[in-house]
Amino acid sequence: MPAQRQVPGAWTFFRQWLRNPRAMAALSPSGRQLTQAMIAQLPAGTQRVVELGAGTGVFTRALLAQGIRARDLLVVELNEELHGLLQAEFPEARVVHGNACDLAAIAARTGFEGADAAISGLGFLAMPREVQKGILSAVFSVLGPGRPLIQFTYGPAGPIPRDLLDELGLSVRRGGIAPINLPPAFVFVYTRD
Ligand SMILES: C[S@@+](CC[C@H](N)C(=O)[O-])C[C@H]1O[C@@H](n2cnc3c(N)ncnc32)[C@H](O)[C@@H]1O
Repeated sequence: MPAQRQVPGAWTFFRQWLRNPRAMAALSPSGRQLTQAMIAQLPAGTQRVVELGAGTGVFTRALLAQGIRARDLLVVELNEELHGLLQAEFPEARVVHGNACDLAAIAARTGFEGADAAISGLGFLAMPREVQKGILSAVFSVLGPGRPLIQFTYGPAGPIPRDLLDELGLSVRRGGIAPINLPPAFVFVYTRD
């Protein structure tokens, strides 16, 4: 009888939060409503997607269910244990154990330059401005022109300060809201003209 596959979930996530609350930035994985609100922001015709901070893979699963092919998905996760679980569950995707700050090099190495969209579960609010800037610069160096970074946060205000958006030449719009997520979450879509 085949061994039952372990689906990484809430307990796995919580254990990682206990070990590193700042990097995990949440107590539990995003819920279905938030996941759908994030996926709904993918531009029509999206093929190649970069996912940052995949955690236990809720967005990864939804991207695949949406029709993104595993080979067109680059997943970057900093946490070693979560990376291992993601790699086991999504063997056909490019699942990289790495830091979103290094996305430009990772994308060059894996052939993901010019991606159609980035979807992020990173906790930008907990990051120093210089780290936010490094990650955003890397993301927009990898995305094709006019392509979006889809990001959620737990408050009604976007997680990137206005002066940093201006410095990087980024625009932002509200993408949706997930009121029954725990905690309630808001989706923001960033683009660079
Ligand atoms: C709030 S959780 C989101 C997980 C998942 N996307 C979700 O919505 O349930 C943040 C995730 O980002 C990862 N992370 C934090 N900093 C990172 C970084 N610099 N590069 C890549 N991943 C990072 C954490 O390990 C964690 O898995």
